[in-house]
Amino acid sequence: MISTEWGLTHEVAAALVATAILAPSSHNTQPWVFRVRGPSIGVLADRTRALPVNDPDDRELTISCACALFNLRVAAAQAQLAATLHAPCNSDDPDCLATLELAPATAPDADLAALYDAVALRRTYRHIFADRPVAASVMEALAVAATQEGAWLHILDSRTQRQQTGELVAEGDEEQWADPAWRRELAAWMHPRRRGDGLTLPDLALPVAQAVVRTFDMGYGVAARDIQLADASPVLAVLGTSGDTLADWIAAGQALQRLLLTATQHGLQASFLNQPIEVASLRTKLRQATGRSGFAQVLLRLGHAEKVLPAAPRRPLDEVIEMAE
Ligand SMILES: Cc1cc2nc3c(=O)[nH]c(=O)nc-3n(C[C@H](O)[C@H](O)[C@H](O)COP(=O)(O)O)c2cc1C
Repeated sequence: MISTEWGLTHEVAAALVATAILAPSSHNTQPWVFRVRGPSIGVLADRTRALPVNDPDDRELTISCACALFNLRVAAAQAQLAATLHAPCNSDDPDCLATLELAPATAPDADLAALYDAVALRRTYRHIFADRPVAASVMEALAVAATQEGAWLHILDSRTQRQQTGELVAEGDEEQWADPAWRRELAAWMHPRRRGDGLTLPDLALPVAQAVVRTFDMGYGVAARDIQLADASPVLAVLGTSGDTLADWIAAGQALQRLLLTATQHGLQASFLNQPIEVASLRTKLRQATGRSGFAQVLLRLGHAEKVLPAAPRRPLDEVIEMAE
C-alpha cells in the first residue's frame, strides 16, 4: 500500500543513488542525474557527458543510465522498498529516461535484493580470462537474466561464429582508430583518477598517452590484441533487443546490468567488445552472425578473472543527485 505521506529522506535517497552510480558506463562518462521528489527518483540523461563520435545517437549513453536504473532497483529491494517503474518517463522532458516510485514493502523483490552484494564486486575486466570453462547452468542463468528485462542473449558458441565475430571486432577497431575525431574523443576521456570519471591513467603517463592516442592510428595493433582477447574468452555473447527505440535501449541497459550482476554472483567478470555495434556498417553483420532477428546492443566477453582489480573512480554523489526542496 503506497502512503501519500511517505517520502524519501536525503539519507535513504543518497544511499540508493550511491549504489546506482556503481553501474558501468561507456568511457566511464557516468552520464546520469538522479532527481529525488517525494517518494520517487527520476533517472535523467546528462547529455553534456555524451560521446558524439563514438555514440552519435546516445544509444550507449541510454544503456549506461539504464544500468544505473537497474542498480537503483537492486538497492531499493535491499532497503526493503517496493518499486514501481515508469520507463520511458511519462513526461515531456526528453532527458527523463525513467522514474522509480518507491514505498516501504513487507515483501520486497528477493531476487533483486540477492544481487546487491555483486554491485560493488563487478568490474570491467579487460585482461585475458583464466583458461576455465563457464558452466552451462551459469550461461543459462545469464540468458534468463537478459530475458527477464526484455532483451535476448546469444552465446556465440560455434567456431565459425566466434571467428566471424573476432574479425568484425578487428574491422571495427580499424575503422574507429582511423578516425581522428574518434581518437580525440577517446583521449579527452582519459583522466587522472582524482577526476572521478573517465578512463583512468597514472598522472605521469597521462599527457604522453593522450598525445599518442590523438596522433597515431593504432587500429592494427588494437585489432590484433582484441582478436586474441575474443579468441581466449570462455564466453562471447551478444545482448540484443527486438527493436531499437529508446524503450529498447532502456531494456538493454537493465538486462545488461542484471546479467553482469548475475555473472558476478557466479564468480565471473565481463568486458565489452562493442566496436562492431558502434560502427554502424558492421552492426547488422554482427546480428546476422547470431542468426537472431532484432538489434545487437552490446558484445560481451565473460570468464573467470585472474586478478582482483581496483574499482574505477566515480563522481561524488552531490554532483549527480538533485533533491527537490
Ligand atoms: C554501454 C557501455 C559500453 C561500453 N563499451 C566499452 C567498450 O567498448 N570497451 C571497453 O573497454 N569498455 C566499455 N565499457 C565499460 C566502461 O568503460 C566501464 O564501465 C567504465 O570504465 C567503468 O568501469 P567499471 O565497469 O569497472 O566500473 C562500456 C560500458 C557500457 C555501459
